[in-house]
Amino acid sequence: MRVIIAKDYDEMSVWAANYVAKRIIDFKPTAEHPFVLGCPTGSSPLGLYKHLAELNHKGVLSFQNVVTFNMDEYVNLDVNHPESYHSFMWTNFFSKIDIKPENVHILDGNAKDLLAECAHYEEMIQEAGGIDLFMGGVGPDGHIAFNEPGSSLTSRTRIKTLTTNTIQANCRFFDNDETKVPKQALTVGVGTVMDAREVLILCNGPKKARALHHMIENGVNHMWTSSMLQMHQHATVVCDEEATVELKISTYQYFKDKQQIEGTIGRYYNLFK
Ligand code: GLP
Repeated sequence: MRVIIAKDYDEMSVWAANYVAKRIIDFKPTAEHPFVLGCPTGSSPLGLYKHLAELNHKGVLSFQNVVTFNMDEYVNLDVNHPESYHSFMWTNFFSKIDIKPENVHILDGNAKDLLAECAHYEEMIQEAGGIDLFMGGVGPDGHIAFNEPGSSLTSRTRIKTLTTNTIQANCRFFDNDETKVPKQALTVGVGTVMDAREVLILCNGPKKARALHHMIENGVNHMWTSSMLQMHQHATVVCDEEATVELKISTYQYFKDKQQIEGTIGRYYNLFK
């Protein structure tokens, strides 16, 4: 697993956006062979989405031949609710780029048959050729998508009941009222994320410090589902300094030395300047 330590949220976001943009550009996607991008929601990717949209406006990259699959969606929340993940994605990203609406896929948390919806989602990912790059965030308890602690590390897309911890973390989007937060969600599984050819995780701020520690320093454990990424052949975590405070000094120092010797921050941060 590669770990990139950016100095702050802005550097992390620009680095990650440029990294994703370069992947898409180098892929040379066409209508017949599109780039398949996995997308997260949450506050962590907001800067990444903003910068990707700017690169799109500047003509650096196009999303015309990009197909997206979102990670998750609440169950029984109107798609037009401002906090549905449909609203989030269209407000913060899709409405700002040249993506074709028919290329956007988000789980339907209001489907009559939720299990069929989840199975169909997995089929659509297969039909699209699998996910080339899955971007993601982590919850404070280390969950990836909505794979709460205790989730199977080989799980597929399914219904998950949210933990109290996640409901408390997400109630800031629902007037700080826990009773307004949906109690269940549809989510891709840990196995679905692991099948992606590449995974890029954003992890920022002091509230994510424990999650980062468990994700990269402890063993693979279903109580910290993002730790499964230790088993992925091509996973990168990009974090900010604030998220590193629970890491061992030796871990922190190794990744700092490595990125300095390899020039990793500058290579992507300055890419499209
Ligand atoms: C939710 C989402 C996750 C996201 C997490 C962290 O639980 N299902 O995909 O990573 O929130 O969100 P934030 O980036 O706002 O901290």
